[in-house]
Amino acid sequence: TYPERVRIVEVGPRDGLQNEPTTIPTAAKVALIEALADAGLTSIEAGSFVSPRWVPQMADTAAVLAQLRPRPGLRYPVLVPNLQGLERARACGVREVAVFAAASESFSRRNINCSIAESLERFAPVVETARAAGLRVRGYVSCVLGCPYEGAVAAAAVARVAEALLGLGCYEISLGDTIGTGTPLAARRLVEGVAAAVPLERIALHFHDTYGQALANLLACLDLGVSVIDSAVAGLGGCPYARGATGNVATEDVAYMLRGMGIETGIDLEALVDAGLSITRHLNREPASKAARAILSR
Ligand code: HMG
Ligand code: MG
Repeated sequence: TYPERVRIVEVGPRDGLQNEPTTIPTAAKVALIEALADAGLTSIEAGSFVSPRWVPQMADTAAVLAQLRPRPGLRYPVLVPNLQGLERARACGVREVAVFAAASESFSRRNINCSIAESLERFAPVVETARAAGLRVRGYVSCVLGCPYEGAVAAAAVARVAEALLGLGCYEISLGDTIGTGTPLAARRLVEGVAAAVPLERIALHFHDTYGQALANLLACLDLGVSVIDSAVAGLGGCPYARGATGNVATEDVAYMLRGMGIETGIDLEALVDAGLSITRHLNREPASKAARAILSR
């Protein structure tokens, strides 16, 4: 059976904007995040404290956070790759961070410049320090349905990394189909495989829509007991270390599908479409979301 309610983690301001070729003004990021909060999103990934040389687009994350209007009940998680990132996040008063590992060695090396084992060793003190300071920590696993460098990835490899991150103290493990190559039955088998190591209620789905499969993949997993979905408004995004990777599944499309299925998300779809427009106008393009385009043309 399908869940009654799904929690959507909006990743557009981070995953969506980290790979844009043009520099996006801090004020535009702030306006986007405020508009997303107005649309009812309660978990909005606001940026990342990674090396600004590796990902220049996220260099202003501290400035973005400083300009957000505090809202009770809202979370603005940020990515941190190491203790240095955690310290920068804590200096901004962040209450939730995310560490990010991969299920493929080559991707781990390209994305964070270390092996999977080294990344887990590096994350251990990050998670411990964060939790001791009262922060919540989310864990990502990338390349769960395929790697841009290695091709197929075994579900068992994903399960091992997911279990390790949970063991470090992450409250939730987000499964990233980084390059969007997954298809519905593969996605379902993956979640079933990971569920042997990580309870279903701790699993989130983070699917990119590169091959147009993301909504179908989500639907294929939703009756297994997963109820957390990562998505990006207007389908923004891509990963700088995964060539050809496009945006996450669009939040508007997910919200439209779930609303049609009678599943609660707390999102005001029309306000969400407006939030998407606030940033796509800046980027000089149409929202990638079909639901957004349909709503705009009514
Ligand atoms: P490294 O070069 O091995 O790091 O990079 P290092 O520790 O040797 O440090 C090198 C320099 O970076 C030093 O500066 C450090 O101070 C600085 P220098 O002395 O040369 O002037 N540095 C930092 N500066 C600011 N903040 C920090 C930080 N750390 C080091 N936190 C590192 C290793 C992990 C830092 C680098 O590889 C990196 O930043 N990678 C991030 C890559 C990234 O952000 N990728 C995108 C996010 S992941 C994603 O999109 C996937 C996801 O969406 C899920 C999915 O779809 O699958 C989550
Ligand atoms: Mg991603």
